[in-house]
Amino acid sequence: MFVLGLFTCIVLRAFSAQAKVVDSFDDCKGFFYKDTEPEGMDQNGKKICQKLEYDHYYYATLYSVHRRIPLYSAYIFDPECSSTAGRTENWHIEPQRDSDENIIKKYQAISSDYSDSGYDHGLLNPNSFQCDEGRIATFTLTNAAPIDESFDRIHWKNWESALRSFLRSKLDSHGGSAKVYIVTGTVPDDDIQIPHKGTSEDPERVTVPSHIWTAVCYKHHLNDTKSFSFGYIGKNQPEGGIRLMRVSDLNDKLSSLYSELLKTHQSIKIFVGDCFDDSKKLNEVQGEFDKLINPNQVDEMATDVQNMSRTQKRVVRSSQHSHLTVGGSWCRYDNPCGKHGEDYYWCWIGYGFFFDSWDYCSPPLSGTRAKNGEYCRSNYACSTYGSDYKWCYTESGNNDMCCTSDDCLSAVNDKTCWSGHPCGYHGYDYLWCYTDDKANWEYCCKDCD
Ligand SMILES: *[C@@H]1O[C@H](CO)[C@@H](O)[C@H](O)[C@H]1NC(C)=O
Ligand SMILES: *[C@@H]1O[C@H](CO)[C@@H](O)[C@H](O)[C@H]1NC(C)=O
Repeated sequence: MFVLGLFTCIVLRAFSAQAKVVDSFDDCKGFFYKDTEPEGMDQNGKKICQKLEYDHYYYATLYSVHRRIPLYSAYIFDPECSSTAGRTENWHIEPQRDSDENIIKKYQAISSDYSDSGYDHGLLNPNSFQCDEGRIATFTLTNAAPIDESFDRIHWKNWESALRSFLRSKLDSHGGSAKVYIVTGTVPDDDIQIPHKGTSEDPERVTVPSHIWTAVCYKHHLNDTKSFSFGYIGKNQPEGGIRLMRVSDLNDKLSSLYSELLKTHQSIKIFVGDCFDDSKKLNEVQGEFDKLINPNQVDEMATDVQNMSRTQKRVVRSSQHSHLTVGGSWCRYDNPCGKHGEDYYWCWIGYGFFFDSWDYCSPPLSGTRAKNGEYCRSNYACSTYGSDYKWCYTESGNNDMCCTSDDCLSAVNDKTCWSGHPCGYHGYDYLWCYTDDKANWEYCCKDCD
């Protein structure tokens, strides 16, 4: 009994720190069109008003504890934010290092469930649609479901960015006089779980969705002939084939998928009155999306990603972003990949929601060495970035000129050391080398003396 009591206490405390699990969405109903949540999905789902430390809510999630994935997240589109994922500084959130992973595991997916599974943590409320702290709030595993790597990175991301551009220009043309309610959800497939059998001591914990969908309700503040809605859905497979459709058709599609899943008739309604559902307006949206989604580009990316072996993919991925680990997890914002006192590269992962873990990061690749011998930060390859010499940000936060390779004869400014004089300190307190036999010299990046 004592153990049970302690257990409950920890779980509740953890819940209150990062998310509010509630009986009704009353505290965060503003994220739903007409304050009304979607009808007809799993009634045993846990309702979560997503927040950070304070009582400010960022979005709402219906979470299936039993399958350990969200059924949907409902959020408002914020057009003000830049599309680049998370380059915000000054986060003031303390990692909860004292939480116990075993307790967390009971209720939630943890990052290691996704390792080597072939699935990304797909965020239903995408961080690129939110600003500042709203972004951090998206990085919780209650907002994440396993999405096939290729489908996520190629197709779903592509639609996400098309949706962002589309909504931004729409809002622009209406002088911002509208509110965009979005619901992104999953359809669980109870036949597929990760980790796969035989790859983990604790397999088959997290249900993989068969489909991922998004529904959009664009509500003009003044003139409802300018309001409209649409949705899209794709299979959670490498070539998932995303299709645009009316919200009423998406309701039907989801109703039949959910009826099959739950073996009883389900009738799903995402928005009250389907939010100005109209086939003429859908044709216009379709036209805009056709322009925004460039099929050639998608195809190229698809072959690129698919051709790379898993290990290559990982290195490429981690080298591109200071906050991505080799397992494909996101580092916390205040804690990018680094050595952090160890002799390997790593970071704390998994924001939010009583969860605490870490993962390895790729060490910096060769060819990313700067003048003083430091490595460039892992998302900064040496490049000109608008100046006339190659440079990068280093791990200690300086920006320094770069050598183009890790070679002992590579110097800054694309110069090569004279073959008889490789890079080194040679009696000075900086790295340098002669570039010819006439005593011309240049800074370089590696002590090979
Ligand atoms: C509402 O929008 C429609 C179509 O954009 C336009 O024709 C109509 O004049 C507008 N009505 C008002 C009252 O502004
Ligand atoms: C990917 O592999 C296919 C088939 O093996 C090959 O034809 C194609 O050229 C490769 N694409 C790239 C970008 O390497």
